[in-house]
Amino acid sequence: MKWPQRALYIFLLGAAAVFASPTDPSTNVLSPDGRIGFSLALDDSGMPRYAVTFDGETVVRPSRLGLRFSAHASLDRDLAVVARIDKANDTTWQQPWGERRDVRDHYNEALYELRSTSGPDREMRLRVRVHDDGVGFRYEVPEQDAYGKVAIVDEMTEFHLPDDAQAWWIPGRAWNRYEHVYQSTPIDAIALAHTPMTLRLANGTHLSLHEAALVDYAGYTLDQRRPGIFKTNLAPRSDGMRVRTRTPFVTPWRTIQVSPDAAGLLNSNLILNLNAPNVLGDVSWVEPGKYIGIWWAMHLNEKTWGSGDKHGATTENTKRHIDFAAEHGFDGVLVEGWNTGWDGDWFNNGAIFSFTESYPDFDIRAVTDYGRDKGVRLVGHHETSGHISNYEAQMEDAFDLYESVGVRQAKTGYVADGGGIQRVDEKGVMHYEWHDSQVVVRHFEHVLKEAARRRISINTHEPVKDTGLRRTYPNWISREGARGQEYNAAWAKPNPLEHNVVLTYTRMLSGPMDFTPGIFDLLHQGPESEFRVQSTLMHQLALYVVFYSPIQMAADLPGNYATHRDAFQFILDVPTDWEESIAVAGEVADFVVFARKERGGEDWYLGAITDEEARTLKVPLDFLDEGQEYAATIYGDGDNAHWKDDPYDYVVERRVLGRNDTLQLNLAAGGGTAIRFSPVAKAE
Ligand code: NOJ
Ligand code: CA
Repeated sequence: MKWPQRALYIFLLGAAAVFASPTDPSTNVLSPDGRIGFSLALDDSGMPRYAVTFDGETVVRPSRLGLRFSAHASLDRDLAVVARIDKANDTTWQQPWGERRDVRDHYNEALYELRSTSGPDREMRLRVRVHDDGVGFRYEVPEQDAYGKVAIVDEMTEFHLPDDAQAWWIPGRAWNRYEHVYQSTPIDAIALAHTPMTLRLANGTHLSLHEAALVDYAGYTLDQRRPGIFKTNLAPRSDGMRVRTRTPFVTPWRTIQVSPDAAGLLNSNLILNLNAPNVLGDVSWVEPGKYIGIWWAMHLNEKTWGSGDKHGATTENTKRHIDFAAEHGFDGVLVEGWNTGWDGDWFNNGAIFSFTESYPDFDIRAVTDYGRDKGVRLVGHHETSGHISNYEAQMEDAFDLYESVGVRQAKTGYVADGGGIQRVDEKGVMHYEWHDSQVVVRHFEHVLKEAARRRISINTHEPVKDTGLRRTYPNWISREGARGQEYNAAWAKPNPLEHNVVLTYTRMLSGPMDFTPGIFDLLHQGPESEFRVQSTLMHQLALYVVFYSPIQMAADLPGNYATHRDAFQFILDVPTDWEESIAVAGEVADFVVFARKERGGEDWYLGAITDEEARTLKVPLDFLDEGQEYAATIYGDGDNAHWKDDPYDYVVERRVLGRNDTLQLNLAAGGGTAIRFSPVAKAE
């Protein structure tokens, strides 16, 4: 511990000793390393407020807390702290798959008991956990006479941010769900933003505001109600309430990740630690791996989801893809457009999709039998177009069918405008819901449970944001929830150059993303077209290491990989399940360098990407194992590489390196580097 820190720690300990009463709200809860402090205080009207400090500086100013109900007395004022129970925890748990095997859960906890001072007698608890990488707190409302069945109309939780903070954010409650280009602005420019929202404070401290364990509750957006004060704005249900529940209940955790630098945010385990342990038991049937698909061809308009001459999901085409997968060691083939309902305007066809009936030119048993012989599985696909009632009515049969033919993974889709999820009630009346409303949050959990019964994992597109539920349901294997590679196809303005870097520091903080990297034909609509991938080829390779997902796609048309066979080798080699992951260096919106060690193996991998600027980075290789030399295969941008002018200039180079070496990476504009480090066998 450095001296100034130590002095602060002693001071705070001293303060705790002075205010020794366990119910004194001014007593801080400190992180185990003493750097982060959470304090709770109530004003004269009994309104609770909390604040957060980092190294003695305020990072969240006094901010309100509380809940309001439609027909019951609120829990946001006229309160007093009557008890506080402290606890410390230092345990380690294991992920069945993940960015690291062992996760340390080290925190100090305070459970504050608050009671009403006027009106009906009522009680609420605030559970606070302060880790070295951030703070989480949640409301816990016990069973009591004052409540029972309740409807929450507002949550008062605020985040009062320091002036001059810079933010990276996407708009909340907009038509395109989470699929927006990230904005980089001072916080004043924000009205409503989704979480995770990433911030850099004037002194360089980085924060991420988000939530953990969103279960049977509404997701929230950050609503700047007064300058600098961001209030939780819970997604409304179609009936106008935010959450319908009954006591006892707990809310999701409200989280504030804190780091002295940008890369530190990427190494945080806070969100996972605040989720409940695995409830599925043995999940050895959840299979990380790599897949290809009948997919990009539709996004390029070369094939169609619907029937006709250009139908992509035919038995023959699927078999050709299975052959390619088997030849190159891919685990699965995703097939979209195999089931009836796609003809016409499929965006608005949610009510007529069948999830069990194939188009006549697709024989599900023939393709799964064919794949079984070759060790390749069919990856299932259910596009719902946001009609959750049609899907729920068929879900059990749909998963039964998949189970019967050996499908272990299904991609689901909810293409519908924000606020346009369709739900039909018992009377046949249609209701429109938000993707992050309580109704749809419940739907996603229902899907996971039905899928788990049949040992099927789910990769959700157009999902609710990730809040770490993969810990509780390890079959929630990946999801979209951001502008992915699909925007670089023939139907949208491509993702801007800094997009992938910004994603790493925003969306990726919430969990795995099915981004679908690996486009090799970067100029698919011709060199002059604006529809193209704005990156070098090496950047595409590096994404397999930078963007964590236990399932990764080689997203291009299989035929396009032969052109750069040496570069394709990296996609074939790179694993998707890791022993350890380390964000080595980076700055939000500029660049990032990740190192990851293969799960159950000895190889290390490195991925680095940059934005529109070319960069030279010196990377110490001190993450490599002690006393071990590695044969490094380095896939780097060439001297003339440039995302626009020369995206295919690259060099594959071999060197012997160890942990005492520092490697210089030369990244082109829009470029990247990907490296595989394999141990050199030691001489006897
Ligand atoms: C949107 C998904 O993100 C994309 O991957 C999929 O191909 C289409 N919906 C059709 O389901
Ligand atoms: Ca999408």
